[in-house]
Amino acid sequence: MKDTAKSFKRTLVTSALPYANGPVHIGHLAGVYVPADIYVRYMRMRGDDVLFIGGSDEHGVPITIRATKEGVSPQDVVDKYHTIIKDSFEEFGISFDVYSRTSNKMHHETASAFFRKLYEDGKFIEKTTEQYYDTENQQFLADRYITGTCPQCGNEKAYGDQCEACGSSLNATDLINPKSTISGNVPVLKETKHWYLPLDQYEGWLKEWILDGHKEWKSNVYGQCKSWIDAGLHPRAVTRDLDWGVKVPVEGADGKVLYVWFDAPIGYISATRELTPDWEKYWKDEETRMLHFIGKDNIVFHCIIFPAMLKAEGSYIVPENVPANEFLNLEGDKISTSRNWAVWLHEYLKEFPGKQDVLRYVLTANAPETKDNDFTWKDFQARNNNELLAVFGNFVNRTLVLTHKYFDGVIPEVGEMHPEDNAAIEELAAIPGKITYSLDHFRFREALNEMMNMARLGNKYLTDQEPWKKWKTDPERVKTIMNISLQICANLAVVAEPFLPFTAKKLAGFFNLSNLSWENAGKLLAVAGESINKPELLFEKIEDAQIDDQVNKLLKTKEENAAANVEVKPQLENITFDDFSKMDIRVGTILEAEKVAKTKKLLKLLVDTGVDKRTIVSGIAEHYAPEDIIGKQVTILINLAPRKIKGIESAGMILMAENHDGKLCFVSPTEEFSNGSGIS
Ligand code: MF3
Ligand code: ZN
Repeated sequence: MKDTAKSFKRTLVTSALPYANGPVHIGHLAGVYVPADIYVRYMRMRGDDVLFIGGSDEHGVPITIRATKEGVSPQDVVDKYHTIIKDSFEEFGISFDVYSRTSNKMHHETASAFFRKLYEDGKFIEKTTEQYYDTENQQFLADRYITGTCPQCGNEKAYGDQCEACGSSLNATDLINPKSTISGNVPVLKETKHWYLPLDQYEGWLKEWILDGHKEWKSNVYGQCKSWIDAGLHPRAVTRDLDWGVKVPVEGADGKVLYVWFDAPIGYISATRELTPDWEKYWKDEETRMLHFIGKDNIVFHCIIFPAMLKAEGSYIVPENVPANEFLNLEGDKISTSRNWAVWLHEYLKEFPGKQDVLRYVLTANAPETKDNDFTWKDFQARNNNELLAVFGNFVNRTLVLTHKYFDGVIPEVGEMHPEDNAAIEELAAIPGKITYSLDHFRFREALNEMMNMARLGNKYLTDQEPWKKWKTDPERVKTIMNISLQICANLAVVAEPFLPFTAKKLAGFFNLSNLSWENAGKLLAVAGESINKPELLFEKIEDAQIDDQVNKLLKTKEENAAANVEVKPQLENITFDDFSKMDIRVGTILEAEKVAKTKKLLKLLVDTGVDKRTIVSGIAEHYAPEDIIGKQVTILINLAPRKIKGIESAGMILMAENHDGKLCFVSPTEEFSNGSGIS
């Protein structure tokens, strides 16, 4: 394996900087932050020199669009979401060494200087081209300010820089039927000057570095890089005509900022500088191993564009691996900030207090490592109740409670070892190595499963040995059984730490274990004669009602989205009062109703209009059953000229409201009203 052949002194772990245009959701967590955090916690337990870098991505069009929508400034938007994101990460136990932001001074300076260095070294191409411009708003339409049909896949909602449906990176001028997202207008072309990074010049190096040199990368990552490189790389604009971002630090660049994907990854560097004066060691020394944790939509930026930037600058290292994940869906639908289709971290933390580890567990067990995956609330409940609670929690709880019951909480000595005891100890000793192997290969689901195997081992051992049956007759044997069970519990405190840090901390607390190290995993950590503390439950049952609440919340979102998509018909031409008063509209009551034979839509009604009792044929059979509407008060246009419908003379019209789906409903008085009452 190449990654073991090369030796490194330290590791720099970066995690994609989330856009501060909304809170963080489970898709972000499963794709990036949970695996990165597991990895970093594991490295720390190994005693490795590791830094974990995070921060908010506060530039780019997603931010300014949000600001316009909310009627506030971009700075207001990023201040609000940066705080929400930062606080929720912290409460969730994502253990960044630094969580910075790209609107701060350090970042503007760092990104500016980086650009200037490339500019002065002649690494850019300066080009004047025609770009789309919205004449109404007098603004160039960069990136998400323009949508149109993707020339690759036909998605009608592709953005000016990227199609989220097929992942293609686009130029706005590639879009078919381009439209301004600000005004909806068809844009015009206008000349503007920009700086381009000639990616084509890095093609040879990228081939050698990735395609030949990093065949060990995850196949989804390697595959995307290969298809990019094989398709041929082209110069890419790294500046934009926008006013929110890092100003382009050269003459004649008024009104221009760095492209967000140029400045954001430099944010990793700025954050490291903010953290330590020793930052260059982590960025410029070949003995540093840099890892980028990202989602699949970020692959090209982290594997091709940012490395080309670093290479162009000349003094930086490039990533050793980029363990990108695929996407997590929610209840079968793509997670979306704009459609509010998400489980938001800050809301989860409020609604499931103290249950950080449950979500960490479920997101890891279901991590979209090799393909897109689905989060469902039912699965969340099942994994908590049947795995965390029934296996892990149950084993630990039984062990600790029995130790208190039989031995006053003092860890007993082992006596004579039976074959099943030796087998358990052997299995225990073998598990940490398997977890290590999986984590070293960024296989977090597999690693988590191995961790759970330790809990399963303990649960099975205890259940099979049945100390409660032996206590009366063979207390010596029970000492051994409990000692071994306690060894397994204490080991769980070590191996669970990367995955379930809150649980691991409680567990370690029961045993008064501190400074747990990975080296000790698999060893006998529970010392006979020492006392353990009073146990508390590690997990609780999650009830159906809680899950129903969550599912209902999502259903409500679905309804809201459907309602928001309704296109309300524009108003008709004005009429005069006289026009209106020609219509004689009355309150009436339906007396009889029956289906009109051989039709789907028609009901024959007998109505009391107050004026008379008459027959009206109404096209409501798909919306109301005859038996349900007898006695119902409705409004009726009674002076509509009678006409024959399916051979039945219909005298008037029942007034109905019709929604966007074509659903009909009566327009009835809100209280019982006498038949014949006029409506005006
Ligand atoms: N904000 C981007 C996203 O959410 C990720 C930026 S990662 C960085 O897709 F490298 F640019 F920082
Ligand atoms: Zn596409």
